[in-house]
Amino acid sequence: MENKKIIYYKQLDSTNTEIARLAALGAAHGTVVVADAQTAGKGRRGRTWESPAGESIYMSILLRPDCVPDRAPMLTLVMAYSIAQVLKEHGFTDVQIKWPNDLVLSGKKICGILTEMQMKGSEIDYVVVGVGINVNASKFPEELTETATSLYRESGRTLDREMIVESVVAHFDKACRKFIEVQDLSFLREAYNAMLVNVGREVRVLEPGNEYTAYAQGINSEGELLVRTSEGEEKRIYAGEVSVRGVYGYV
Ligand code: BTN
Repeated sequence: MENKKIIYYKQLDSTNTEIARLAALGAAHGTVVVADAQTAGKGRRGRTWESPAGESIYMSILLRPDCVPDRAPMLTLVMAYSIAQVLKEHGFTDVQIKWPNDLVLSGKKICGILTEMQMKGSEIDYVVVGVGINVNASKFPEELTETATSLYRESGRTLDREMIVESVVAHFDKACRKFIEVQDLSFLREAYNAMLVNVGREVRVLEPGNEYTAYAQGINSEGELLVRTSEGEEKRIYAGEVSVRGVYGYV
């Protein structure tokens, strides 16, 4: 993504959708799209992502990665790790990660990541990694106040969104190259686990058609969350299929 142009829009339906349109026109690996506002921002599990103008970051990166489709969900963890590094550089040293795709400050969500993959036959055509970071928002809708926060609310500082975008692109570029080189997450596993909010906690695992409670232990080099069920059974949870939530609240 070095020297890649970052395309800024005033408003889009969704930066992930725009990347899909650009990808269909042949756009290159590393193309970055940022919008000041989104009218149809997408969250995980079919949810919408509130995207008002002037305060937060909505960005997506187009990837044409040299890896098998099974490994694509690992890019979500590569992005979470990269954003955590950026936030630490901005003084948010307590940043935590809620596996696989949320960043957390003071137990509340500061950032979400939505990774979408398009196949061409049995290979990856492209992957879109979309990032929403709550930067300068001072207020959240009633239903989000318990679970969401912003960098402004946590620090009282107004941050330069463009600078953060550039820094996320640079950190992700570096980490993504490493991932493609080694084809796993061994290079970030330790640092990721040190920030993992789920460790030692009881989590509710939401698999398609199956829900259960387990204790989270950390990720392995494949990005899977290792958990132990109440029956003592060890399980590995693959990031592509499921999500976990805290038993007693958001984390
Ligand atoms: C989540 O549910 O936590 C994922 C949220 C991802 C939101 C971002 S905002 C930029 C990009 N474009 C979208 O439509 N969604 C992602």
